[in-house]
Amino acid sequence: MNPLEELVASAQADFIAADDAAALENAKAKYLGKTGQITEQMKGLGKLDPEQKKIQGAVINGAKVRIEAALTARRDALADIVLQARLNAEAIDVTLPGRGRSMGGIHPVMRSWERVEEIFRSIGFDVADGPEIETDWTNFTALNSPENHPARSMQDTFYIDDKDATGKPLLLRTHTSPMQVRYARTHTPPIKVIAPGRTYRVDSDATHSPMFHQVEGLWIAEDISFADLKGVYLNFVKAFFETDDLQVRFRPSYFPFTEPSAEIDIAFGSGPLKGKWLEVSGAGQVHPTVVKNFGLDPEKFIGFAFGSGLERLTMLRYGINDLRLFYEGDLRFLKQFN
Ligand code: FA5
Ligand code: MG
Repeated sequence: MNPLEELVASAQADFIAADDAAALENAKAKYLGKTGQITEQMKGLGKLDPEQKKIQGAVINGAKVRIEAALTARRDALADIVLQARLNAEAIDVTLPGRGRSMGGIHPVMRSWERVEEIFRSIGFDVADGPEIETDWTNFTALNSPENHPARSMQDTFYIDDKDATGKPLLLRTHTSPMQVRYARTHTPPIKVIAPGRTYRVDSDATHSPMFHQVEGLWIAEDISFADLKGVYLNFVKAFFETDDLQVRFRPSYFPFTEPSAEIDIAFGSGPLKGKWLEVSGAGQVHPTVVKNFGLDPEKFIGFAFGSGLERLTMLRYGINDLRLFYEGDLRFLKQFN
């Protein structure tokens, strides 16, 4: 075998022996690199006369082409090996059982929402739904809380950049009470409605969440009194908690939109807070100014309203001491209700 043939054979053997890309590049340098053997052969051509140079040059070039071909073939083979290894590693075992998805369950606060609707429907209340983005007028002014009225600071509000037709910023409703106005202005008495839904305030602690749920209640006719409020509300909580053995108190309070006003507290019957009072609701006789804003004559129409926290009712029902648990999405907590 002439020396060039030997060189080609040796290169082919070296390439086959290289078992990864780095080893192959090292082997390549030995033949085709700056000081590689083919390169050295090419340099030697300079000493030959033109005729010889031409012949010998073609022979060296032929050897070089075959070495390059061997190199390319080995590169492709190594790439295939890498790919195959990856495919094997990432292979999906189609015989494995599926992961499966367990059945979802209803959130405890939603369960309360449904129970409240059911109870009030059963005593003839309509159920209404309204916008979570409210105007300043409906959320505050129509409810007898004019601009700059100190009572507005009872509710720390999320305002949004968009404005209503009068140029006032829109806001996330701080309570469901604007639904009193929306509903009463579009219905004729007797008005008997509840309006459950989401409400928002800049609030956060064990009994306050920035997004929470209220249910508004409104009964307006010619003769609905504070005694009716007490009767209806006490019947409601007895049905909701499925017991007559409840500690409920009406505590005198203030709201601009009711007179007289009360807050309703219920004592925990179970859980770590057993025996402790929790405020669940504001309530009262609808203020004559608000009745006027309903588009009704306050000399003729009178009635009560209340706004209860659905999270608070749920806390009392299950003896839960921290309202934030409802919104952490922890399945260990949530699964207990399903
Ligand atoms: C009001 O929102 C009045 N609109 C209630 C009302 C309606 C009074 C009709 C008179 C007539 P208050 O801010 O107290 O009132 O909230 C009512 C209830 O919502 C509270 O008793 C509580 O149960 C619940 N609540 C209030 N803020 C939060 C909060 N950040 N997180 C969870 N629940 C809350
Ligand atoms: Mg309150």
